[in-house]
Amino acid sequence: MKKKIVLFTVMAIVAALSLSVLLAGCTTVDMSKAGPEDIKAYGKLVVATSADFPPFENLENGEIVGWDIDVAKALAEKLGVELEIQNMEFDAVLSAVASGKVHMGMAGISNTPKRDESVDFSVNVFDSSQMIIVKADNTTINGPMDLAGKTVAVQAGTIGNWLANMDEDYAYEFDDDGNVLLDKPILGAPASVTKLANGMMAVQQVADGKADAVILDKLPAEAIVASINANGEKVKILETSVYDDAYAFAIGEGNTAFKEWIDKAYQELIDDGTIAELNQKWFGSSEE
Ligand code: ARG
Repeated sequence: MKKKIVLFTVMAIVAALSLSVLLAGCTTVDMSKAGPEDIKAYGKLVVATSADFPPFENLENGEIVGWDIDVAKALAEKLGVELEIQNMEFDAVLSAVASGKVHMGMAGISNTPKRDESVDFSVNVFDSSQMIIVKADNTTINGPMDLAGKTVAVQAGTIGNWLANMDEDYAYEFDDDGNVLLDKPILGAPASVTKLANGMMAVQQVADGKADAVILDKLPAEAIVASINANGEKVKILETSVYDDAYAFAIGEGNTAFKEWIDKAYQELIDDGTIAELNQKWFGSSEE
């Protein structure tokens, strides 16, 4: 009798477990492989962003707005589906794309050879540079080499983070074959790097005298510096940049069907004047 009860209980547990495995399998879709037809069938385009990067994406009265968001809307419209924006820290955006939790990452993401190993990129959509921000009255840091021995604040997971860390994929010159030249750093090695959740917090560290400098993308640097300087000049952007980069949209590694679709759709948005309009709206100029 007792044996039967035990057997029955075991069978019930096994059945419950297999059912939950089955259900979990049904709810998780690997979006990294989804082509345009799959997305149409799914009914929405799921985009990861990090809304702390004006004018590309930012929170305004609780709403996520910006250049990337408007382009995302235009792409969703072309697909004839709804747009779902998932807001997360920048640090999580590329892994959300790589692990198939979203269809796409649109977050002022710099297209680099290192990142290209784990995700694919659309055509480049914007040229940028990594700028240095220091206190307004700072006279000792005048360029990248002067960051040697300093405390540098950055947004975690960004190019600024990898530069400040003297990462071999970013902080040195490369020869024509793509080999890193470790004797040719493009900035002076900081003594310490403070990683923060967003660029605003990083620049605030400089304003508060807790960090000597920030490495941040040009347009967000201008927007954030302008807001911190609203009541008097506290911080400034140096003229010499550290690194030139270009933004692209990130999609699943090897997802050629979606890449071809996005590149074509983006070209159409250029040709019909949408991109020039959005550049004017968000950057104040029709060129990138
Ligand atoms: N362009 C830089 C990078 O790719 C910074 C991007 C940060 N984006 C953001 N939405 N906070 O690393």
